Amino acid sequence: MKRALTAALLLGLCLSLASPAAAAASPDSGKTLVAYFSCTGTTQTLAEYAADILGADLYEIVPAEPYTDADLAYYTGGRADREQNDPSVRPAITDSVEDMGQYDTVLLGYPIWHGQAPRIISTFLESYDLSGKTILPFCTSHSSGIGSSDDDLHPLAPDADWLDGTRFAAGTTREEIAAWLDERGISPDAPIGAFDFEKRTVMLNSGYEMPILGLGTYSLSDEECYNSVTALLQAGGRLIDTAYMYGNEAAVGRAVRDSGVPREEIFVITKLYPGPQYAAPEQAIQEALDKLDIGYIDMMLLHHPGKNDVKAYKAMEQAVSEGKIHSLGLSNWYVEELEQFLPQVDIMPALVQNEIHPYYQENDVIPYIQSLGIVVQGWYPFGGRGYTAQLLGNETISAIAADHGVSSAQVILRWDLQKGVVVIPGSSDPDHIRENLDLFGFALTEDEMARINALDRGEKHDWY
Ligand SMILES: Cc1cc2nc3c(=O)[nH]c(=O)nc-3n(C[C@H](O)[C@H](O)[C@H](O)COP(=O)(O)O)c2cc1C
Repeated sequence: MKRALTAALLLGLCLSLASPAAAAASPDSGKTLVAYFSCTGTTQTLAEYAADILGADLYEIVPAEPYTDADLAYYTGGRADREQNDPSVRPAITDSVEDMGQYDTVLLGYPIWHGQAPRIISTFLESYDLSGKTILPFCTSHSSGIGSSDDDLHPLAPDADWLDGTRFAAGTTREEIAAWLDERGISPDAPIGAFDFEKRTVMLNSGYEMPILGLGTYSLSDEECYNSVTALLQAGGRLIDTAYMYGNEAAVGRAVRDSGVPREEIFVITKLYPGPQYAAPEQAIQEALDKLDIGYIDMMLLHHPGKNDVKAYKAMEQAVSEGKIHSLGLSNWYVEELEQFLPQVDIMPALVQNEIHPYYQENDVIPYIQSLGIVVQGWYPFGGRGYTAQLLGNETISAIAADHGVSSAQVILRWDLQKGVVVIPGSSDPDHIRENLDLFGFALTEDEMARINALDRGEKHDWY
């Protein structure tokens, strides 16, 4: 739960999730840069993990004269050997970091070459004024430790605040890098749980970024689902919510694969269902992976509390450690259920997905969940089947919509986002799907938010 505690603390720094202004990057810290040099890709992989986890910028130190295999063959008196023997060598770098001033923290990655950092790291350090910046070195090697390679770099940026470096072996996992960053107190650029309205994403406590709006696929047939996911992806939407129970995971997967959108840009959520799936969760997870057939699952939720839910969650935790699932969450868990469940598991859920709409606002539940560093997502944003016409036709909502020249649906979704609630409205109509993504050309005032908040009736429209 260590990461979860950090997440909750971070969230404390950013208490107000209610307004887009409050959702901007943390005000007191500059950005983080992950700079690295890598000839055979080992250091590069770890640098990419770190940048991804932190939401940091990535900069590759590229030599003006590339290193050939012969240059790298060590103990041959080749180029790398010669450079390492001469501390005054400064191999040229092709380009430079744009505006180094914007960074507070620099992670610096390099391979160990004869016990030291390659000389091009010296070139890099001497190219900038790094005074006042925190530098965290990390290296990869065949077998050597970091040795004095990090300390020996200090004189090249004497006024920087150097943290102790760490050596990693080839094959170090993303989770190990996340744990290392957490231990070193290096936190994501975007505070966990805060919505970034520019990027339209939220940083999860798992270290992954998730889009804050997307598509729900409940009750969509295979064909409708395929077409809806395709329409969403074409319109720029990147978040899709499905479930074993919806029977359309295969259609979601097919639409994702056919879309031409890079896999890593898309975020797919699916769910295990109580009963046989919770009783045999390993098979159920494999079934979801097979049906989706998109490599990994971005997030898996438990559909609702039920017998064997802890057992199912623990199987999902195992799948996270194997890289099959990236993030975990729960659906239809409320305060009491969370209080009972959380002490029994190791990975803090990244998300809780509950029924949320203007007639059922969960105003007690949402702040509690957010205070744990867990992101909240709402299902049935328009009140659910049988209630949609009534909610969209609500006088207050219609009046606000008319004032902004948008639809009632857009007003409700925007209200959710301004409350820090991720939205996944279901639709099989491409026009509605596009409209539901178009939420950034207007903002609700405090007064308008208050008028919608006043519509709460505590009226649940489904039994979960
Ligand atoms: C010139 C040279 C010298 C090296 N010296 C060492 C060494 O002293 N100790 C060690 O464990 N590995 C040594 N290695 C292996 C690299 O440190 C290791 O393969 C590293 O992970 C490569 O990182 P990269 O793939 O990011 O380039 C050396 C490699 C080269 C090319």
